Amino acid sequence: MRHGGAESVSLASVSRMEKKVLLPTYERQPILFVRGRGVYLWDSRGKRYLDFLSGIGVNALGHNHATIQATIKRQASRLIHVSNLFFHEYQAELARLLTEISGLDRAFFCNSGTEAWEGALKLARAFAQMTNHNGGNPKWRILAMHNSFHGRTFGALATTGQPKYRAPFVPLLPGVSFVKFNDLDDLQRKFDSSVCAVCIETIQGEGGIQPVNKEFLELASRLTKQNGALLVLDEIQCGLGRTGRHFAYQHYGALPDVVTVAKPLACGLPLGAILTTERVAKCMHPGMHGTTFGGGPLACAVAIEFLRAERQLLKHVRALGEYFHAALEALDKKHKSIQEVRGAGLMEAVELDSSELAKAVAKQLLQEGIIINRTHETVLRFLPPYVIQKKHVDQVIKALDAALQRNEELTRRKKKIASPRRKEVHAHA
Ligand SMILES: Cc1ncc(COP(=O)(O)O)c(C=O)c1O
Repeated sequence: MRHGGAESVSLASVSRMEKKVLLPTYERQPILFVRGRGVYLWDSRGKRYLDFLSGIGVNALGHNHATIQATIKRQASRLIHVSNLFFHEYQAELARLLTEISGLDRAFFCNSGTEAWEGALKLARAFAQMTNHNGGNPKWRILAMHNSFHGRTFGALATTGQPKYRAPFVPLLPGVSFVKFNDLDDLQRKFDSSVCAVCIETIQGEGGIQPVNKEFLELASRLTKQNGALLVLDEIQCGLGRTGRHFAYQHYGALPDVVTVAKPLACGLPLGAILTTERVAKCMHPGMHGTTFGGGPLACAVAIEFLRAERQLLKHVRALGEYFHAALEALDKKHKSIQEVRGAGLMEAVELDSSELAKAVAKQLLQEGIIINRTHETVLRFLPPYVIQKKHVDQVIKALDAALQRNEELTRRKKKIASPRRKEVHAHA
């Protein structure tokens, strides 16, 4: 295989080579993407795709955004990395912007979602050690939610409430108990003075776009406040404008002690952040936590531009989100196979009645040049860039309508063929 740029490499040769040399962790779709612009991607054969997944919530400004591209070029030619042993121009300004929009006081920068989450768990344990509100008894239990997803490193796995992610790697971090998501009684039952943190995704993403209930979040907030524990929210997927507010918790009028963000922050460059209060930040001192790459000048310079653009787009995200949601609800009325439509802003989901149907529909849309994703087996997930227009929503709705109709007809026909045979079997029995 030659390496003369992506255009000269074929899907067949890349996929053959990957099979030999990569750990087999991904089941990739047979598409080789070579470039993107705005809401579109192009594959190696020149086919255009409407991107309604945006790199799983990363490319929130679309592909090849002019300001982002210019910022990367400018900063890459000045300074890419210095380590956290020295100052550079951008971390303080980025932290200032994030604290301003979150209502929190301090930031720590890292490279990914899972790393932000690990840091948040460490913060919870360190804060409990520093304050020791439990009369000298241990205060290190963490309450996490069933059906949650926080990442792939050990602490993140230990707090991820989906056995399929955890099982191959046990034993995990001790001290974690799972609460039924949105079950007030279960939270009340499992919470006691040995708990140092209650961990919640404000809207569960991998778990099928399941928002936390207001009462549940309020109870978590009250219990943690009263007992010197921390309310830790994971907004890695639902934060930074995705729902039409800077943070999803702002729809609830809540304020966490710690929040994690990542995905769209640096428009595709790896960057995550932990945000917290002045009170909690006091438990950290030099040497307790750190990273080589996290918060480098290139990623931070880009993130500052992202946040400037995100501010301008919130109203648009709300408007387009409402338009999209209403169109999905209209499909819900038309198609029996739709069980539920959920979501906020441009984080939307359609739950179907079988995983086969969800698989078939996602595949058909991909063939038609529309990228979405299936999560939690039966859920179609939509995380389009914030810059989509109504015409893009219309295109997706039309394709979804047709794909559902086609697959429902196929299922009906299959049932028709299958039912006389079943009668025959009964007749012979
Ligand atoms: C809510 C949530 N938390 C954490 C993560 C992990 O982020 P990363 O893949 O950047 O490590 C994800 C990734 O999908 C996520 O959706």
